[in-house]
Amino acid sequence: MSTNKLEARALTKRFGDLEVLHEVSASISEGEFVSLVGPSGCGKTTFLRIISGLDTADGGAIEVDGRAISGPGRDRGFVFQSDSLLPWRNIFDNTIVGLELAGRMSPEDMARTRKLLDLVGLAGFENYFPRQLSGGMRQRVNLARALAIDPELLLMDEPFSALDAQTREIMQGELQRIWEEGRKTVLFVTHQIDEAVFLSDRVLVFARRPGRILEEVTIDLPRPRTMATKRDPKFVALVDHIWKLIEHDVRESVLLEHG
Ligand SMILES: Nc1ncnc2c1ncn2[C@@H]1O[C@H](COP(=O)(O)OP(=O)(O)O)[C@@H](O)[C@H]1O
Ligand SMILES: [Mg+2]
Repeated sequence: MSTNKLEARALTKRFGDLEVLHEVSASISEGEFVSLVGPSGCGKTTFLRIISGLDTADGGAIEVDGRAISGPGRDRGFVFQSDSLLPWRNIFDNTIVGLELAGRMSPEDMARTRKLLDLVGLAGFENYFPRQLSGGMRQRVNLARALAIDPELLLMDEPFSALDAQTREIMQGELQRIWEEGRKTVLFVTHQIDEAVFLSDRVLVFARRPGRILEEVTIDLPRPRTMATKRDPKFVALVDHIWKLIEHDVRESVLLEHG
């Protein structure tokens, strides 16, 4: 019997002639926070979409709690890069979209949703509309919405990339706090190495063409982590180690994009 929350075995994916993922295997245990870092175009989003069931692999297998999955499910919550809020719905109604689709509209579900909005620092904003909120607040609504369905596994694809540097730092701290409280199993994608190290128990470092895991780096920094953690020589050494692993690929991807 597997004790892993998520087990991905030898996932392979091609788009035409391009092999995007080559036999990527990863396991994540219950309550673990794992990040995926790698240069732009290395297949991070593709990997996450396959885990979420939004896309299918050409080879390999995925299990959540030992069950094979073949499509989207409410055991997995997804937070996208850009916020995907419905402009005509207020914040509360945006947060319950997933519950609504699942037909879960009990008073308990509604009460739990209010608590989640509180948890992400949005108590009092239930009746506001997305356009009335800042980028950081909208990304918090996204997070609350993914948490509202109470997923076994939270999948996050560069959720903070649209935020300015200060807001991003604050959101990293917030996410850590929320994770400490709920102990969800999280798979978090970012191209920012320090963000991955700050948040994670383990970082999976991706290489590109084809996307594959170069190394798994265990982050044994004590929790809770604070701003001071980012100046800890051990933190700096971990970031440096990961950067050296992907530096070549990053330079190449930057040159390809801008050359
Ligand atoms: N639907 C698609 N059709 C064709 N190519 C795609 C598609 N989605 C992604 N790709 C390509 O697959 C590669 C990996 O993309 P992606 O998973 O988005 O990388 P990342 O999220 O790491 O930046 C890129 O070269 C991208 O252009
Ligand atoms: Mg991506």
